[in-house]
Amino acid sequence: MNLSDRSSISAISAGRRRGTTAAAVAALAAAGLLATAVAPAAEAAPALPSTATTAAVAAPDIPLANVKAHLNQLSSIAANNGGNRAHGRPGYKASIDYVKGKLDAAGFTTSIQQFTSSGATGYNLIADWPGGDPNQIVFAGAHLDSVTSGAGINDNGSGSAGILETALAVSRAQYKPAKHLRFAWWGAEELGLIGSKYYVSNLPTAERSKISGYLNFDMIGSPNPGYFVYDDDPTIEKTFKDYFAGLGVATEIETEGDGRSDHAAFKNVGIPVGGLFTGASRTKTAAQAQKWGGTSGQAFDRCYHSSCDSTANINDTALDRNSDAAAHAIWTLSAGSTQPPGGDTYENTADVSIPDNGTAVTSTVNVSGRTGNAPAALQVGVDIVHTYRGDLVIDLVAPDGTAYRLKNSSSSDSADNVQTTYTVNASSEAANGAWKLKVQDIAAQDTGYINAFRLTF
Ligand code: TRP
Ligand code: ZN
Ligand code: CA
Repeated sequence: MNLSDRSSISAISAGRRRGTTAAAVAALAAAGLLATAVAPAAEAAPALPSTATTAAVAAPDIPLANVKAHLNQLSSIAANNGGNRAHGRPGYKASIDYVKGKLDAAGFTTSIQQFTSSGATGYNLIADWPGGDPNQIVFAGAHLDSVTSGAGINDNGSGSAGILETALAVSRAQYKPAKHLRFAWWGAEELGLIGSKYYVSNLPTAERSKISGYLNFDMIGSPNPGYFVYDDDPTIEKTFKDYFAGLGVATEIETEGDGRSDHAAFKNVGIPVGGLFTGASRTKTAAQAQKWGGTSGQAFDRCYHSSCDSTANINDTALDRNSDAAAHAIWTLSAGSTQPPGGDTYENTADVSIPDNGTAVTSTVNVSGRTGNAPAALQVGVDIVHTYRGDLVIDLVAPDGTAYRLKNSSSSDSADNVQTTYTVNASSEAANGAWKLKVQDIAAQDTGYINAFRLTF
């Protein structure tokens, strides 16, 4: 789902009609069973989004010292492996092992994806933070390979370390976002965006559509920095710009080569993308030096793709601000909509009488205007008034006919009524369509009716 989407709420509130006879209703009322059944239903105007919003949790500050400690480790890895961390060289795999070790220890689910490029094995590292809606993924990535001429500390130790420390901050906070979080470190970017292209081309279409947005971080600590924001998905762009505006730091649109980094493959298949960049070999203008400081007439990164791209080739302020901006965007975009917990509810309150020891009956809720699949934790509200619940077999039936058993019959379940909320993993079902609550009474004597059926997405 696109991050700009706002799901609409439409509650179906059909008028009430007693499905049971007047005598039966009187009997039930006498037995105190109609407590939830007597209030008149609100008339059928669609519910408006509630204003009782829950505030999103603010992102933590990303400690610059921790980001720089990762850069020192990447620098040592290069020094110990012939001076670089390039695709096909031992320094690259050592970099992967370093990042993976940190993520595994922090509770991420990691996997290494191998590919071959220019006759050498390349590696992408993918890290998933458990939890969140698997159908809405906020994804951040950075290329981990350097060119062969140096250690690649700004290009792209900076982005790699910034998102690594953000991932570790997710773990420290034990953050529970509404959306699912995924991070990736790409291989062979310097050979032509090879790793990220490989990842996207091997991602089934159904998986692509689950990515709400991809955020790219390639060169975020340039020594003579600019503050550039990719001009792509408007929601992602605004999230970054708002952060810098809050710091009082001006930003510009990134123009030093659109499509020159790993967001390109995502963008090409229609996934919303965004990112940050502090500049490569292009020259800082006088106007830019005016607003950002630094040296006009000089490249943003004079050591771009050179042996001097070392730990000395980093502007700490830029690295700090961009790492914090990454965390801010990842937190903000994954928090989900600011609706109260529970989400959008669709309901049918028309009563349906359940024949005694008879055929199954259904109550239908029509869901429309949603994107993608139903949630992994679809809330199924069941309100059945009945004098012996053990008689009842209850299923949720998805629009395609798939049935999910909510309750079996049981001769020992001798209570009345079924008034509860079941949680169903409906993530393999399209959200839109006619959902049914199917109820069958399989034993003689006791009777009742479906009072209400509601789905909360
Ligand atoms: N991706 C390039 C590299 O790694 C750097 C670069 C140039 C870049 N222009 C860009 C990165 C624009 C992001 C956006 O060498
Ligand atoms: Zn590069
Ligand atoms: Ca019965």
